[in-house]
Amino acid sequence: MLNTFTGLCLVFTAFGALVSGSPIVPSDSGMPPISGSLTVPTPTTGMPMPPATTSGMPTTPPSNTTLTLPAGVTLDFILSAQGTQNYTCDPTTNTWVSVGALARLSNNSIIYDPRHFVGFHYFIQEAGALSPVFDLSLSEPNNPGNNLVICKKLAQESSPDGANNVQWLLLERARGGLANFVMRVRTVGGQPPAGSCHPSEKVRTVPYSANYVFFK
Ligand SMILES: *[C@@H]1O[C@H](CO)[C@@H](O)[C@H](O)[C@H]1NC(C)=O
Ligand SMILES: *[C@@H]1O[C@H](CO)[C@@H](O)[C@H](O)[C@H]1NC(C)=O
Ligand SMILES: *[C@@H]1O[C@H](CO)[C@@H](O)[C@H](O)[C@H]1NC(C)=O
Repeated sequence: MLNTFTGLCLVFTAFGALVSGSPIVPSDSGMPPISGSLTVPTPTTGMPMPPATTSGMPTTPPSNTTLTLPAGVTLDFILSAQGTQNYTCDPTTNTWVSVGALARLSNNSIIYDPRHFVGFHYFIQEAGALSPVFDLSLSEPNNPGNNLVICKKLAQESSPDGANNVQWLLLERARGGLANFVMRVRTVGGQPPAGSCHPSEKVRTVPYSANYVFFK
């Protein structure tokens, strides 16, 4: 973990430049290169925020949820995310299908705070599947292998806060040492528009926010 606030500020100041143009490649040589460049939505105003309360924030999963962790798993840390869920129109069914997401992650706050930017959440193609990645390599460049995790989905359930919010998720580590399990909770927004779509629509980005809870 990078402990100096100065470091984080430098990273945050530089991150606009880092992100536009240059691909973000995990520093662990065992990781697949992440190709392409990330264009990050810059404004934080006007984007959804998770509730500014710790109410509803699980430290362990609630017992009445399907998001059940194996015994012995412990809470490690919590990040706040703000970004977009991305969809495309499937031309065979005229329905929205997910093509990934891109969000910025911040530490030390239950709502996204750019002063505590620590990394990105995005998706890569891994073994033929769109796989979620949590990548703190910008803020923890000297922690290869443990600054990133590529996950697979174990379970999901509807947001208890309404159907406009993307599902709560339980993800399991596929590769990378950042966490063994990740939960997406307290989601706000991110659902595709209701109803059918027109195949001419290649990408629809829907703003969302969430908290991601990392377990060891
Ligand atoms: C979050 O901030 C705390 C306190 O500065 C630090 O100990 C921890 O390593 C940070 N976590 C991440 C994921 O950056
Ligand atoms: C998702 O949308 C963001 C804009 O919010 C864009 O920069 C990113 O490339 C998109 N990613 C995918 C996989 O569509
Ligand atoms: C679980 O139960 C609590 C208390 O009864 C309730 O507030 C919460 O909404 C429930 N969670 C889900 C996901 O149903």
